[in-house]
Amino acid sequence: MDYGHFSEDGKEYIITNVATPSPWINYLYNGRYFATISNNGGGISYYKTPLHGRITRYRINDVPHDRPGKYIYLKDRDSGETWSLTWQPVGKHVEAYQVAHGFGYTRVEADVEKIASSVLYFVPLEDDLEIWKTVLTNKSRKTRRLSVFGYVEFALGHALVDIINQCDDQHFNRVHFDKDLNALFATKTYWVTETRGTQHQENKEWDQWAFFTVNLPVAGYETLRERFIGLYRNENNPLAIEAGELSSKNTDYGNAVGVLQVDIEMKPEESKKLIFSLGVIPKAEFEQKKQGARKYHDLRAVEAAYLNVKKKWEDLLAYAKVDSPDKDVNIFMNSWTPYQARVAFDVGRVASFYYWGIGRGFGYRDTAQDTIAITISDQTKARERILLLARQMQTDGKVYHHFYGDGQGEFTEHCDDPLWFILAVTEYIKETGDVAILDSPEPFLDGQEGTIFEHLLAVLKFAKNHLGPQGLPIFGRGDWNDTLDYIGGKEGGESVWGGMFYVAMLNRFVELLKYLKAEEAAKDILELRDHLNQAIEKSCWDGEWYIRAFGEGKRKIGSKDNTYGKIFINTQSWAVIAGLPDKKRLVQAVFSAKKMLDTKFGPKICAPAFREIDPKIGLITRCVWGKKENAAVFCHPAAWLIQAECMLGRGNAAFDYYKKLLPNRIDSDIFVAEPYVYPQYITSDEHETAGRASHSWQTGSAAWMYRVSFDYILGIRPTYQGLMIDPVIPSDWKGFKAERVFRGTRYKIEVKNPGCAESGVKAIIVDGQPISGKVLPISDKPVCNVLVRMGK
Ligand code: GLC
Repeated sequence: MDYGHFSEDGKEYIITNVATPSPWINYLYNGRYFATISNNGGGISYYKTPLHGRITRYRINDVPHDRPGKYIYLKDRDSGETWSLTWQPVGKHVEAYQVAHGFGYTRVEADVEKIASSVLYFVPLEDDLEIWKTVLTNKSRKTRRLSVFGYVEFALGHALVDIINQCDDQHFNRVHFDKDLNALFATKTYWVTETRGTQHQENKEWDQWAFFTVNLPVAGYETLRERFIGLYRNENNPLAIEAGELSSKNTDYGNAVGVLQVDIEMKPEESKKLIFSLGVIPKAEFEQKKQGARKYHDLRAVEAAYLNVKKKWEDLLAYAKVDSPDKDVNIFMNSWTPYQARVAFDVGRVASFYYWGIGRGFGYRDTAQDTIAITISDQTKARERILLLARQMQTDGKVYHHFYGDGQGEFTEHCDDPLWFILAVTEYIKETGDVAILDSPEPFLDGQEGTIFEHLLAVLKFAKNHLGPQGLPIFGRGDWNDTLDYIGGKEGGESVWGGMFYVAMLNRFVELLKYLKAEEAAKDILELRDHLNQAIEKSCWDGEWYIRAFGEGKRKIGSKDNTYGKIFINTQSWAVIAGLPDKKRLVQAVFSAKKMLDTKFGPKICAPAFREIDPKIGLITRCVWGKKENAAVFCHPAAWLIQAECMLGRGNAAFDYYKKLLPNRIDSDIFVAEPYVYPQYITSDEHETAGRASHSWQTGSAAWMYRVSFDYILGIRPTYQGLMIDPVIPSDWKGFKAERVFRGTRYKIEVKNPGCAESGVKAIIVDGQPISGKVLPISDKPVCNVLVRMGK
């Protein structure tokens, strides 16, 4: 079925059938205040972290689906007819609704009972609140008397404790109405700041007042869910709305809600604007700041704040642009993929429809990878994140696997985590030239301070101390693949992908040292790298592809001799990315990946799926076949295969994968997840639900698809010396145009491909002057015009 489409300019996804096969969400935030919102108004709001600063509740994976949210109910006081301005929760007249998700905002329009409504949800950049700007218009021929009810259900503090300790937790909720401010205020008189679910009582209160307010005078309010919804009911038919009256009582117990009732009258064609704002004010500054709750009662302030949000996103998305012959490619590369990548970076992959936000915080490897999408457009944030990553490291190079940056974190035995730091730092310096970052001092977790360069050396120490008997990284509890978690048994096992990954990161380190003219220091690293190369070439080639790992007693995993999981994608793609010396093997490896892993939905992470539990491999074998790491089309590593194909110059093969993986390729009734962002995985042909996607939004697929498509398909990528242009495109592209801001210069690039090449650059002309090689020298001009002719 058709549920929607991109707007003509690609900047909005417009949902025309709001009964989507799953909630299709968007993110509204300013970096401190965050909200998710689905096409039906479901979603959470939180301040700083979704774990400690949860403002509203959301019952994940419950029925009714996608509840609660940011709801506005309407009741016609004459007819008694009741509906909501988002289709859910009342759920009437599905055809009357249309939703547009844009960058940093969501707009819901409806036309029910001859009342046209539009609700614009967004979070201002300056203030820690969300706005629901509501416009109602009377499209009937008579005067209408309506009651409007804004509704939220509060969580108030630690989200996990709210779940595991509800029976006690609710005795600490306090909600009252402040007449002068026309606002409800809610808080909890105790708070837990630990990351785990705990019974620990910290002897403190939540440090925020949540508020909920509206610009028009409140006719009644409610603070207790039991009184508003009533027993044996749910959000679609609240008792109090049916009764037409709210208790207007404060509460100091029970499930806290905020309901504000506004009564309006509208003549035919008359419109009314209601601005609901939901936000937080720190208790410590409450007296000075409480008037701020009223700031957006002023419509001009609302308009200005909305324009600022639009401008922020337009600016962020203006650094890299493409005009290719393929409209979908343009929409994803120019808009939705960088948008998703930025959201994943800012949200820290923590909160989505699939991730409850009650886990342990940012993943080290995840956030290091997300950083590479941000270096292009927001170097200040990328730098900040690199310093944050540095602070999660010990002097031996070990890092927290998960952290919130508040001093708490969790160590695990993954062999890859610290090395992602090299990726983030080197990519940042290539983009910015900011080598000074290497001298920035940051504390290690074990007290001492070290520069970023010393942190890189600590990572190196980790790599050296982490090799097993065959010279490959000791697998531990996983590498990039979290579900190969018991491969090693007591001995530890060894990761072949880990070996390739170490090589790739060491190569990056050496490249940096060369740029810094510190070749002497590179010798040691090259020795380690060559050691790894030899170990891989000696024992990891399986005839037609590279194996994935060694388990106990040197048992091969990812080998032709196995029944399940004969081949894994990562050891084929990363063999190329690492630049392993045997070129013939590299070509054969990606060829085998194509032959054994490709499906009509894209390449699988491994094949065939494990259909028997093997405790000596781990979680992957316990997972249903065809989903997640057990042989799904996992989009994140699929991006690496695209990169590998490009690195071998195979434009058609690379683009074929890229196109297959675009999120709007599969019918939505099959795909289920949002068609405008990448999911973590698409169920593969090994399961009856083949084509079903899951874990959308918060995935490394966004950052990598963004960088791989720009850097390797368009071939426009930063190097220490300048901007490289080396396209690897489908041969039927006659060319493309692109823009890329690099070191302060906007390069306007036109690539011509008259001979239908897949790769190869014949000539590059910069501002009328031919250059030799493929790297545009760093320029001091604001704009450079570049003409590229492809061919041999
Ligand atoms: C999830 C994790 C990521 C991991 C991947 C493969 O996406 O967030 O860190 O690499 O799964 O297991």
